[in-house]
Amino acid sequence: MKILVTGGLGFIGSHTVVELQNEGYDVVVIDNLANSSTQVLDGIEAISGKRPAFEELDLRDKSEVEDFFKRHSNLNGVIHFAASKAVGESVQDPLLYYENNLGVLTYMLQNLITTDRANFIFSSSCTVYGQADEMPITENAPVKAAESPYGNTKQVGEEIIKDTCKVNPQLNAIALRYFNPIGAHPSAEIGELPLGVPQNLVPYITQTGMGLREQLSVFGDDYPTEDGTCIRDYIHVVDLAKAHVVALQRLMDDKNEENFEVFNLGTGKGSSVLEVIASFERVSGEKLNYKIAARRAGDVVQAYADTSKANEVLGWTAVSTLDDALKSAWIWEQKIRS
Ligand SMILES: NC(=O)c1ccc[n+]([C@@H]2O[C@H](COP(=O)([O-])OP(=O)(O)OC[C@H]3O[C@@H](n4cnc5c(N)ncnc54)[C@H](O)[C@@H]3O)[C@@H](O)[C@H]2O)c1
Repeated sequence: MKILVTGGLGFIGSHTVVELQNEGYDVVVIDNLANSSTQVLDGIEAISGKRPAFEELDLRDKSEVEDFFKRHSNLNGVIHFAASKAVGESVQDPLLYYENNLGVLTYMLQNLITTDRANFIFSSSCTVYGQADEMPITENAPVKAAESPYGNTKQVGEEIIKDTCKVNPQLNAIALRYFNPIGAHPSAEIGELPLGVPQNLVPYITQTGMGLREQLSVFGDDYPTEDGTCIRDYIHVVDLAKAHVVALQRLMDDKNEENFEVFNLGTGKGSSVLEVIASFERVSGEKLNYKIAARRAGDVVQAYADTSKANEVLGWTAVSTLDDALKSAWIWEQKIRS
């Protein structure tokens, strides 16, 4: 069984490659190294004992994509992670995001629909819900107007896939709406490698813990939550990676009820920023330097998943705790700075 993983040297992609290999799949990775490096291949190999096939290719090159699919006509499934993901950058350079996240998606689908049967997994996000009216968030919660071009690419990406599936019954797709992926592989061979100043809370915390950042700002402690800070659903990246294997298996076994399905991937538990900090301090034994700052524009108060659909239909449940995830992130941070 041969699976293409685009963006397979990135944070979530690399962990998914390992889980696919653990289940016996042959993996071919496409990555243009825009937000990763070939050292990740060494990390993957150190864990699984297998080096995935790798093609350094920019998926924005339509003819290269066509050529790839011609050379790999025997793919059993595709997991499409490759995308740009910095919300702030997407506001500054929307066309980069529309080209990389949506142009590329259309190229992928154009090639996939030429085959007799295609199984396709798409990286979507809980950002499609915006500030949902009810917690926990089910897949039926309305999709809200996107706050950024990045968020919009996930909404429109899902629409593109859905419309394409409607007229191409041979295309079977699942959009996975991730909540907040954090952590690293417990082996500390692979993990998150943010370029520059981290956009996300956990790498910011671990970098502050290492002294690379002076202080963490907690944006707002006057939200209508128990401790006043924002609440998110933090999911260990290894749990998230495993969900991809299960979702792909569902398509390959022809068990999907419709040819376009959507699943939330989270733990179902919301944690506040202060709880995440407390978890870091617990597992690291370090005191974190942080301050309370003003609220930040665009932050939703709380977002955590109703995971029953993924639990019941996919038979998948996140098992790692917040402490497990913070501990793995901390060990990883220490390793890459040593
Ligand atoms: N990390 C999160 O918090 C999060 C949350 C929700 C959804 N997602 C989505 O999950 C996916 C993976 O996210 P991640 O955190 O692993 O990001 P990442 O940046 O670590 O990985 C993406 C990978 O894709 C590669 N890539 C980007 N553009 C490419 C192109 N044109 N051609 C070939 N390779 C290309 C990058 O080099 C990188 O290795 C993305 O689609 C992202 O939008 C991420």
